[in-house]
Amino acid sequence: MVKNPKDYYYWRAKKEGYRSRAAYKLQQLNERYDIIKRADTVVDLGASPGGWLQVAAKLSGSVVVGVDLVDIQPIPGVVSFRGDIRQQRTIEKIKLLTKDGVDVVLCDASPNLSGNWNYDHARSIDLCDSALKCAKQTLKPGGNFVVKAFQGDMFLRFLNKVKRTFGTVKAYSPQASRKESAEVYIVGKNIIQKSNLPP
Ligand SMILES: C[S@@+](CC[C@H](N)C(=O)[O-])C[C@H]1O[C@@H](n2cnc3c(N)ncnc32)[C@H](O)[C@@H]1O
Repeated sequence: MVKNPKDYYYWRAKKEGYRSRAAYKLQQLNERYDIIKRADTVVDLGASPGGWLQVAAKLSGSVVVGVDLVDIQPIPGVVSFRGDIRQQRTIEKIKLLTKDGVDVVLCDASPNLSGNWNYDHARSIDLCDSALKCAKQTLKPGGNFVVKAFQGDMFLRFLNKVKRTFGTVKAYSPQASRKESAEVYIVGKNIIQKSNLPP
């Protein structure tokens, strides 16, 4: 995961006990947009190795669920399992683990990069669509959503879908994202009541 071992956030994560430099992206997103509050139930899609889960567990102190294609080593206060976020059965398992509903759905999932920009972009948007579907099915009224998207020609269409689903929507690149990265985080706050949502 770490391409440049001399990176500032890489060393900071090592020193502060975070599993990934990505932990600082979620911290910065949360400082700016106030996404996770104390006692929130949080779901993190594409969560391995677990930096976001560590941050989410600290902020919420309540139910935190992580899912990834690969194993996530145990984190105190976090329930994690292996699953593919593109599959409905993964969403059903999340529902079982969060019986009272979810306050925040996070998704930092990335496809394995092929180096072909258009192909990687399309696969990233596919993961974004899966995350949005999960958010629509699990979030309580007023719930929040964060998803990573790689920029490209399908980005705006996806952003508009999120805009139709949440009261407030912003696109943001945290300082901890690498300057050369194509990633942007979309933050949706305050999900619109399910009965008023487009399919
Ligand atoms: C950038 S890493 C996430 C880092 C994490 N936020 C952290 O702070 O440690 C992206 C993850 O997305 C996962 N992923 C990619 N496609 C997935 C899918 N279809 N279902 C579940 N996880 C997926 C990858 O296995 C990888 O672990």
